Amino acid sequence: MQIEKKIKDLIKKSGPISISQYMEICLWDDKNGYYTSNQVLGEDGDFITSPEISQTFGELIGLWALSFYQEFINKKRLCLTELGAGRGTLLKDAIRTIYKVTSNKINLEITILEKSERLITLQKENLKNKNVRWISDIKGMSLEPQIIIANEFFDALPVNQYVRSNEGWHEKKIAIKNGKLCFTLDNKIWVPSDSIYSDFKIGDTLEYSERTISIFSNICNHLIKYDGVLLLVDYGNISGIGDTLQAVNKHEFKGVLEKPGQSDLSSHVNFRLLKEIAIKKNLYVSPVKEQRNFLLELGIEERLKSLTKNVSSAMAETVNSEIKRLIDPDKMGSLFKVIAITKTKRILEGLNRYG
Ligand SMILES: C[S@@+](CC[C@H](N)C(=O)[O-])C[C@H]1O[C@@H](n2cnc3c(N)ncnc32)[C@H](O)[C@@H]1O
Repeated sequence: MQIEKKIKDLIKKSGPISISQYMEICLWDDKNGYYTSNQVLGEDGDFITSPEISQTFGELIGLWALSFYQEFINKKRLCLTELGAGRGTLLKDAIRTIYKVTSNKINLEITILEKSERLITLQKENLKNKNVRWISDIKGMSLEPQIIIANEFFDALPVNQYVRSNEGWHEKKIAIKNGKLCFTLDNKIWVPSDSIYSDFKIGDTLEYSERTISIFSNICNHLIKYDGVLLLVDYGNISGIGDTLQAVNKHEFKGVLEKPGQSDLSSHVNFRLLKEIAIKKNLYVSPVKEQRNFLLELGIEERLKSLTKNVSSAMAETVNSEIKRLIDPDKMGSLFKVIAITKTKRILEGLNRYG
């Protein structure tokens, strides 16, 4: 309620606000923001991510990172950076696996880009005694080849929406009508700072996140200078068109303007826009894979066999259903897309075979 009042006061004072401004307040308000004041992740929270469902996710990403490092980098140390590390579960599973297969004979430097103080505390607990550095700005990554992992990171960043008319793009904003929050279209025409693709129709919605583009462009520049890779796993909007903004509370969809501050707000990542930015910078963009095919190629079924070998049938059933959830073709397996960006063209594990 306090957040709703804060938003309404702001609109009354200075007019309709942008969707990114609305998201910023709902998610990050100092006192009552969704990320600031809630336990958001996990079965008991509002939504659950792949590493929280099964340890195999972080393990396979760890092996993927190690094999990239061994094949293409092989410098003194492996620098692994995660963007928005949640509870640190992915890294915990990845680090354990990397140490195990290298018999601890590897120099690992871990960096986490994280904004939530609450989650940093949890990450510190989960990653005790590991060589971890926390940064609040992507430019804080060490000036070496980085293996950068972003699982469900970019979808959490504030986004703006623009609707196409005959004249151009109009920003969709948030106003008040009859005492309630509602969407409205700005009369002004918005001109993107960078040229964007042109095959859209009248009435189409374009989602554009300044924050995503800024972080992504900085990563591209880092790859150009120092090599490395960005592995991005997220809800992907391949066509680059459409309204994908969503609110989730206790694992259920809610209206975006309903209960501000009490739901997670996210949008599908505009993969098309990111691909265009990377290509313009002469970087290599891998084919886009569904999470299911990526994990199958990395050997998730073989890992399932080994994890269920000498355990009770009840435990085997649990592990089996967790892994099935990650690769379910009707849900996470196809909704989540995987893409990698590198300096030059490389054949990357998990991103070559299958459809
Ligand atoms: C949906 S959670 C995903 C967590 C984790 N990657 C996982 O798969 O479990 C999004 C993460 O990004 C972080 N985050 C969101 N916006 C951020 C920003 N602007 N800078 C740094 N971290 C941010 C959140 O605090 C959270 O850790």
